[in-house]
Amino acid sequence: MRAPHRAPLLAPALVSVLAVGLFGAAPLWAGEMTLPTLYTLHCSGCHGEAGHGVPASGVPDLHDAGSYVVLPAGRSYLVSVPGLAQSSLDDATAARILNYILRRFSADRLPADFAPYTTAEVTRLRTDVASDAETRRRRILSDLKAAGLLPRDYTAP
Ligand code: HEC
Repeated sequence: MRAPHRAPLLAPALVSVLAVGLFGAAPLWAGEMTLPTLYTLHCSGCHGEAGHGVPASGVPDLHDAGSYVVLPAGRSYLVSVPGLAQSSLDDATAARILNYILRRFSADRLPADFAPYTTAEVTRLRTDVASDAETRRRRILSDLKAAGLLPRDYTAP
């Protein structure tokens, strides 16, 4: 039974390689650079570095998300998606990263009077997982179409 002894030796080595790789190029102004790094770490694995997701596999393109915030159900849906709600991010960071991805990928869809998500709002909405994300998403998209906020022939990715 020698093999299992290798894992504990490898793990710290891997952690330090990752830490150097990810944080080695530490930004001078952390406030500006932390969000892109957080996105890369927590979100890009599924949504891709450019935010286009893999629609064919059910991972949405984040460029659409800005439209959702017009509706209360859409606004709350964005907080409740598993990648955010069930992540290890604290509520303040989750709010910041959500505001960040909306502005980075979907600024052209955000309403002019968009009020950024607050920590308190994320705390309140994060646990709201009454129905599954896919069902809620479809309902919101059809409400957006009904309200003329999405083209009627828009097909959800
Ligand atoms: C494990 C893969 C995965 C990770 C990691 C992930 N997501 Fe997602 N995300 C999804 C899937 C799949 C959906 C579609 C809703 C669903 O089925 O849960 C989604 C939906 C979303 C939506 C709604 C977009 C829409 O059009 O419906 C937003 C916004 C979002 N994710 C943001 C994030 C953010 C921010 C992170 C990082 C903190 C993140 N996601 C991490 C897989 C992921």
